[in-house]
Amino acid sequence: MRCVQFVIALLSVIWLAGCQTGRRSTSGFRLPPDGNAERGKLAFVAHKCHDCHTVAGVDLPKSEAEGTIPIPLGGPVAAAVSDSHLFTSIAYPAYKLANFPKEQTTVNGRSRMPPCAERMTIREITDIVEFLQAHYEIREVARPAYY
Ligand code: HEC
Repeated sequence: MRCVQFVIALLSVIWLAGCQTGRRSTSGFRLPPDGNAERGKLAFVAHKCHDCHTVAGVDLPKSEAEGTIPIPLGGPVAAAVSDSHLFTSIAYPAYKLANFPKEQTTVNGRSRMPPCAERMTIREITDIVEFLQAHYEIREVARPAYY
């Protein structure tokens, strides 16, 4: 009997951990449904995101920043990239450093990506997420899923 109780307790802990309840849960996260990929591309260029990023299959102006190694966005992935990951990566770049070589992504242990809270609107980020989502492609074999 004790063993059964232990197993039930253990399963509950695993279940709760899997559900990610609490403040950092992403379960209630939703972007407004009217994101627009065309506006998103314009905002992407206006905010000079292309200085550091390429987007799979998209022609973007040449980067004006010198010496930056582009971090690719879009392209093949093993599993769907969540809106919450993209939104958070833009609003708070350091929350989870993408799985690229450190010298490419960080300076003194911090993300090279500048914070945008003072410069961007929710509208712009929503549109950019829509734009980026249109260029990810779920494939069996892909670069590692780090989301
Ligand atoms: C100065 C360079 C730089 C600029 C400008 C920049 N980024 Fe980044 N970005 C990075 C680096 C470096 C990373 C990887 C490190 C990290 O995750 O913070 C990154 C990560 C990301 C990621 C997560 C990528 C992944 O595969 O998990 C997204 C999404 C992103 N950037 C979007 C944007 C958008 C949108 C803009 C414009 C508003 C922008 N970035 C501007 C350097 C930049």
